[in-house]
Order: sequence, then structure tokens, then C-alpha cells
Amino acid sequence: MITLTNILILSAGTRNKIIQYFKNELEGCGKVIATDCSDIAPAIYDADKLYIVPRITEPGYIDTILDICKKEKISGVLSLIDPELSLIAKHRADFEAVGTTVIESDYDICEITLNKFDMYKWLVAHKYNCAKTYVDKDAFYKDVTSGMISYPVFVKPICGSASIAISKVYDKETVDLLFAHSDNLMIQEFLDGQEIGADCYIDMISGEVVSIFTKKKIVMRAGETDKSVSFKDVKLFELIKNFCKEFGFRGQIDIDIFEIGGEYYISEVNPRFGGGYPHAYECGVNHMKLIKNNLEGKENIPSIGNYDDGIYMMKYNEVKILK
Ligand SMILES: Nc1ncnc2c1ncn2[C@@H]1O[C@H](COP(=O)(O)OP(=O)(O)O)[C@@H](O)[C@H]1O
Ligand SMILES: [Mg+2]
Repeated sequence: MITLTNILILSAGTRNKIIQYFKNELEGCGKVIATDCSDIAPAIYDADKLYIVPRITEPGYIDTILDICKKEKISGVLSLIDPELSLIAKHRADFEAVGTTVIESDYDICEITLNKFDMYKWLVAHKYNCAKTYVDKDAFYKDVTSGMISYPVFVKPICGSASIAISKVYDKETVDLLFAHSDNLMIQEFLDGQEIGADCYIDMISGEVVSIFTKKKIVMRAGETDKSVSFKDVKLFELIKNFCKEFGFRGQIDIDIFEIGGEYYISEVNPRFGGGYPHAYECGVNHMKLIKNNLEGKENIPSIGNYDDGIYMMKYNEVKILK
């Protein structure tokens, strides 16, 4: 008997490439099914089948998704948006009960990565280089006075994403103003260096880091990497391997890193496919295949840095027409 490997992509939005790559991989051996709460989310129209679902915050949302998993005999499910990661991870057992694997890190891990201050505390406790961070602005002003930190700094929401409400700030007046107008902000030391993105896959069966692709970010747009160039550094691969093992990630993750004077600083982790993943895939770093293997019960063998350096990615716009 042939068993199909069907994959469900939640909150597909505008991530058409992710859907297309999964379709390439599952051609002839499974279907790609996509959901979104909007019927004008272009990516769902690239899937084999689509479902318009309630917003993730609505009661009964998870039941709707579990019903789709049962009906479509879904082997694996993953989400493409931050606020949904913890929700899916929290219901891992419910998904298992209908025969669906959640291709994601555990709930506690998702929660830490979604909270930039918790992430900072984790990095400090585990002795990784990172930007000094404050949630208490008076503690920050004290450190400015004593010369421990200086302007400019980054002020951002503790639980933000997509670069929303992030400001580079040059003086106390602006810090005061921002804090007066919003809650849950934090102040972070400015990392003045080369921004790097790492797309990694941590095997769902063995827990080993089996794939790493690193790129230097050249241009950012709306919080996403717009242009980037691939590169390789064994020292960085080792750092990423240790970091992922220590944290306990599983499945696909995306790490933001800064390089300053030959030292690497970890900035943040999105435990999902990042917006810049197409760069990795187009360089031959196929994580869809790794996911398919895991869903079929096959462990992946580590293959790290198996791509060429100096390959550029440039994003451009496309349109989807729906009649
Ligand atoms: N401490 C910092 N130093 C330098 N640049 C920063 C810093 N914090 C944020 N940035 C810039 O803002 C972008 C978004 O910040 P990030 O912390 O990754 O939040 P998000 O969750 O919105 O992606 C980063 O990719 C980087 O370009
Ligand atoms: Mg980021």
C-alpha cells in the first residue's frame, strides 16, 4: 500500500514560494493543503487544496484545523506566522491523536523566542554574545551615565515582529517619548555590524542540526531580507550547531545574527520558515525534502554548508490573478 505524505501549511499569506517548493517535493506522493483567514491570500491559490479558516484568535480555531487534518489525512502541519507557533505547539498531542506531526519546536521554546527580553535573558545565561537589553528605562539611563552603554540604541516592542514599531534612537527625550506612548517596549544596544541570516533544520527524529545555510543581508525591506549573498564560515556553523542543541529547537528555524569585528552576536530566532528561505532553497538547500523524510520516519544525515558561497538573491514582486 502506498501511503501519501500530505502537508498542511497554516496562514500561508503571501508565501507562495514555500507552497511551490513543497509541491515540487511532494509531486506524486502527497498533497499540499494551505489555509488562511483571508480569501485573497495569494499563496493558498498555489496549493493543491485550500481552506479559508477563522482567525487564529477565534474560539474553535484549533478544532477547525484538527478537522482538516483528519479529513485530508495530513502527515505534518506547520505555520508561517509568529503568533500561531505557540498555539500549534501547545496542541501537539491533539494533532498526534489525529495522526498529524507538528513540524515545529516545543511550546516553551516558541514562547521564549517570541519574547525578545526572555530571549536576551536566555542568551546571557548561556553565555552567547548578544546586544545588552533593558526593559527598565531608568536602569538604562543609569548605565548611560556610568558609560556602560551609549546612544544610538534600538527601542522595540518586547513581543514584536516584522520590524513594526522599531526605532533607532539617539537621545533620552526620544526614549522617554516612546515609553510614554507605548507599553511593553525594550531598549537594546545598537549592534553596528554585518547582519546575517541563518536558515537551519533540526531533525525531528534525531534532534541533530542537519542543515545550515547562511547569508549576509544586503538590503532589508519591511522587516524582510530583500537582497542577500550566501557565505560560509566554519566558526559560525559551530556556533549555530551548539546554540541549536543547547536551546533544543526542532524543524525549521531562522536565526538573525550580527558580525562585529569577527565576533558573532545572536539577535533573534523565528522558529519557522523565514521570509528569506527561498535563497537557501535556490542554492540547493532543500528543507522540504528533510521534512518529507522525517514525516516518512526517516532520519536525515547532517549535511551542513552544502552550497556555494557568493550566490546572490534579489527579491521582486509578482501578482496572482483570481477570476
Ligand atoms: N540591536 C540592534 N542593533 C542593530 N540593528 C537592529 C537591532 N535591533 C533591531 N535591528 C534592526 O531591526 C530589524 C528588526 O529587528 P528584530 O529584533 O529582528 O525584530 P523583528 O522581530 O521585527 O524582526 C533587524 O533585522 C535589524 O535590521
Ligand atoms: Mg528579525
